[in-house]
Amino acid sequence: MVRISALLITPVFSSVFVDFGCISSRFASLYFTIPAMIDYALLEDAESYARGRLSDKRYVHTLRVAETVERLAKLHGLDPERARLAGLLHDTARELGKEELLRVAEEEGLPVGDFEHERPILLHGPVAAELSKKDLGVEDAELREAIRVHTTGEPGMGPLALALFVADKIEPGRDQPGVEDLRELALESLKRAAWAALKDSISHNERRDRPAHPESRKTLEWLSSGDEQHPGETTPRSEV
Ligand SMILES: [Fe+2]
Ligand SMILES: [Fe+2]
Repeated sequence: MVRISALLITPVFSSVFVDFGCISSRFASLYFTIPAMIDYALLEDAESYARGRLSDKRYVHTLRVAETVERLAKLHGLDPERARLAGLLHDTARELGKEELLRVAEEEGLPVGDFEHERPILLHGPVAAELSKKDLGVEDAELREAIRVHTTGEPGMGPLALALFVADKIEPGRDQPGVEDLRELALESLKRAAWAALKDSISHNERRDRPAHPESRKTLEWLSSGDEQHPGETTPRSEV
């Protein structure tokens, strides 16, 4: 089946609208509804794909993440449909067995370090990103980056990746201590919310004698620097 990416089509239709700026607003709205229809088909496919690969519990989590990341995208000026697609696909490899995750990772040439050998479940993001391209034709590199790094984070991760990372931690089914603070912080800054979420998750793992993934540590460092203000200093979690 030929699949057309709405993400590629949208700018084309947008430029048609610009070139024919004199057309009535009725026609203009038509131009803008066409990409949404194409997006909808891919989103529907992604939803069915997730449904077919996940248990009820994780599928419901997936839908909640998709809703949450879509809302965050609207709030922070990102493409909501792209965000929703990332949300729908982010955990689609989460229920593969350890051997299967390692097998696909090797087959696709994904980096597999000591951490991943010990806990292959950490590969579910990178594997889902590969499968989204292979099975659904998702070529969008930024979208696949968001899926790939949604568990550990990655220094330099883009806004869509930050939004997905945060949405995964604050979707309405999450009830860990401090999640309300995190939800409020996410309304203000994705980077600060990601910093707080990652710090919580590293501390949580350390309390259970699980060392943090080196990538998560590097990401925390990156999130703490390069911003106009240190997230932890400017917006202490107890005050948000
Ligand atoms: Fe996940
Ligand atoms: Fe998830």
